[in-house]
Amino acid sequence: MFLSPDSTTPRRLLVTGGAGFIGSNFVHYWCQTYPKDQVFVLDALTYAGNLANLTPLKSHETFRFVQGEISDRALVDHLLQAENIDAIVHFAAESHVDRSILAPDTFIQTNLVGTFTLLEAFRHHYQQKQSGRFLHVSTDEVYGSLNPHDPPFTEKNAYAPNSPYSASKAGSDHLVRAYYHTYQLPTLITNCSNNYGPYHFPEKLIPLMCINILLGKALPVYGDGQNVRDWLYVLDHCRALDCVLHKGKAGETYNIGGNNEVKNIDLVKILCQLMDELAPDLPVSPSEQLITFVKDRPGHDKRYAIDASKIKTELGWTPSVTVKEGLRKTVQWYLENRDWWQPLLSQEYQDYYQQLYGL
Ligand code: NAD
Ligand code: DAU
Repeated sequence: MFLSPDSTTPRRLLVTGGAGFIGSNFVHYWCQTYPKDQVFVLDALTYAGNLANLTPLKSHETFRFVQGEISDRALVDHLLQAENIDAIVHFAAESHVDRSILAPDTFIQTNLVGTFTLLEAFRHHYQQKQSGRFLHVSTDEVYGSLNPHDPPFTEKNAYAPNSPYSASKAGSDHLVRAYYHTYQLPTLITNCSNNYGPYHFPEKLIPLMCINILLGKALPVYGDGQNVRDWLYVLDHCRALDCVLHKGKAGETYNIGGNNEVKNIDLVKILCQLMDELAPDLPVSPSEQLITFVKDRPGHDKRYAIDASKIKTELGWTPSVTVKEGLRKTVQWYLENRDWWQPLLSQEYQDYYQQLYGL
């Protein structure tokens, strides 16, 4: 078991990918909720990693940032032992489906080989320490795509990943599961639906639309815009991970989702309406005029939906933010944090954008 939050001994967490979107939100959440705990972030600072996501924690005594690769075994071994780590919360990954279609190599290297390296290091560490937890943060995309009337994914659905990204995450999930069964390591897996909120890198649907509306640029909607995603506010994901780390049963998988299925085109229209209402002086208003249907994503999954009954009934988690509230907060955040997102629209990003959209 993981030490209780009431324990007088502070817990020591290693958070991989803590400078990314969900990882940084998790680190903020954890440091606020459990201020005595010691949090170490290991992050390679790829294009998606951003130290600015962690700026508010810079002077916290209980927080330390280490720049490095999860596939650097010597570094991981050193951190686990020197810092006497109790739990690994593993977010680090290549996470964008479109980039996995353009260039899958790093997805295999980080998501599969990187996870394998962490598991081997944890195996060695656990043999000596005889306590600890390994929480592997994964995605609903491993289950493939649903038809419109299919029931939502449960933990019993067969894996059927369709993109290099989801296949690499599926492979990492299988490794984590195997390390529980073969070596009795206390591993846990979570499979979550689409997150949104602060610190979301501009390449993903919601920040991309918010930023393009503010810049008066085309809003590229893939295909017919009828694909469905199940949206969860990132803080609710962090709260779910907290429940799983404290109360989850080793070897188990927990699905996490907000029960908020929305068609892409409807979501983009909601964002346009919110921006029209909240942003003064938009370059193009009403912003719906910017919606542009573009070539579909190859192999684009039609629909994702999560059945989160298991985590709700067994661990007592429920989402706290409605999609209406969450989208409003998020739009407001992008409006107020131009200084955060503007530097991310770098030349590398423009090149990627041009290659993907040709817009
Ligand atoms: P992100 O792309 O925003 O962040 C990934 C972070 O990992 C970055 O900080 C990056 O620098 C770091 N990283 C990448 N390769 C690394 C390496 N080799 N070594 C060390 N650090 C490395 O991703 P995110 O959206 O925050 O997703 C985090 C995790 O949650 C991923 O594992 C993803 O599969 C999973 N997930 C994401 C969502 C979502 O909607 N974003 C939903 C479900 C699950
Ligand atoms: O379901 C969880 C997954 O959600 C995570 O595992 C991934 O890491 C995360 O990136 C996300 O994957 P998606 O592919 O669903 O997210 P994305 O924001 O890229 O796209 C959401 C939907 O919007 C998808 O149907 C594709 C569509 N889309 C996306 C972009 C970037 C567009 O129509 N236009 C766009 O420009």
